[in-house]
Amino acid sequence: MITPERKIMTLDQAIAWHAALRNEHKTLAVTNGAFDLLHRGHVEYLNQTAKEADALLVAVNSDASVRQLKGPERPLINENDRAMLLASLQAVDAVVIFNGPKPLDVFSAIHPDVYVKGGDYTEDSLDREEYALLKSVGARFVFIPFVAGFSTTSIFRRLRDGGSAPTAGQSSCKAVLNNALDMIFCRRSVRRYQPRPVADEQIDAILQAAMAAPSAGAKDPWQFHVLKNDGLRADIAATLPYGRFLAQAPTGIVVCGDLRRAHGGELSYLIQDCSAACENILLAVSQLGLGACWLGVHPRQDRVDAIRRLLKQPAEIIPVAAIAIGWPAENPPKRSRYRDDAVYWER
Ligand SMILES: Cc1cc2nc3c(=O)[nH]c(=O)nc-3n(C[C@H](O)[C@H](O)[C@H](O)COP(=O)(O)O)c2cc1C
Repeated sequence: MITPERKIMTLDQAIAWHAALRNEHKTLAVTNGAFDLLHRGHVEYLNQTAKEADALLVAVNSDASVRQLKGPERPLINENDRAMLLASLQAVDAVVIFNGPKPLDVFSAIHPDVYVKGGDYTEDSLDREEYALLKSVGARFVFIPFVAGFSTTSIFRRLRDGGSAPTAGQSSCKAVLNNALDMIFCRRSVRRYQPRPVADEQIDAILQAAMAAPSAGAKDPWQFHVLKNDGLRADIAATLPYGRFLAQAPTGIVVCGDLRRAHGGELSYLIQDCSAACENILLAVSQLGLGACWLGVHPRQDRVDAIRRLLKQPAEIIPVAAIAIGWPAENPPKRSRYRDDAVYWER
């Protein structure tokens, strides 16, 4: 058996190892990532990745590279330890630590037969430089879907803020209640994001949560405009004096209401319904390990008019709020802003 230490290679060693593989007519799959605090989602992903070729090389971000991408509180585990954990997995044949935000040196020195990435990416959303380089060396692209419910960011938050893992199978009523409330206190506004796309499946789950919100007379007057188009997102960001950072978020949602559908045709019900949907979006985002920030639109008439125009909507459609969404590059801690003087016990 090859020891984990021997699987951890410099780039030069990996080039020689790959040449030997080629001589034996064996294929190579490559994937890359931070793999900070290795969890079951990572392991299942790597097991799937290994099936794509005869051998698997993992390019792992150096500590400086993780800090650059995910903020100053990361990584939790240093690069040598992350490499050692990866190299100890049966699925992994070689590990190379790379500097900088992208493993371009690794790809240009080692031409993989297959390039594997998580299912939040597509060929269109891969970094353009990485994509062009891999395409030019003839790599096949494979995207492996997420294992639901696992993310280092959510484990990190649980460790820092307290709280246990979501229970497997049956759990006590108290644990469920604590977890449920934790989810509320852990939601914080996140205004800095990693340059990493948000998968359509995640947006879909977020919108399912949005439309589970309460609504007066169950009229559901809402509309959700998902800002996938970079140009439109930047134009909307430019209308928001305190939301310019929406342009740097990989995605966002504008929540609008249709006055014709609102309970009694009343604006106040429309705003209340859409606000409840906004809160559901924020909670869902946080639970998925993503980050978001509510950006005020209504009742500022200039923002309402500008966004309605950009979305090409008629006068009956009221933009209520924009929400910037992405993978967090900052992690504000759990908190409650509980105030005794806001509470009146009417006994
Ligand atoms: C109606 C509304 C409008 C908001 N508008 C903005 C905004 O334009 N820009 C921004 O950065 N945050 C905005 N926020 C987020 C608040 O600043 C944030 O929720 C508040 O500071 C509490 O922090 P927390 O969300 O981290 O708990 C808005 C929140 C609400 C509810």
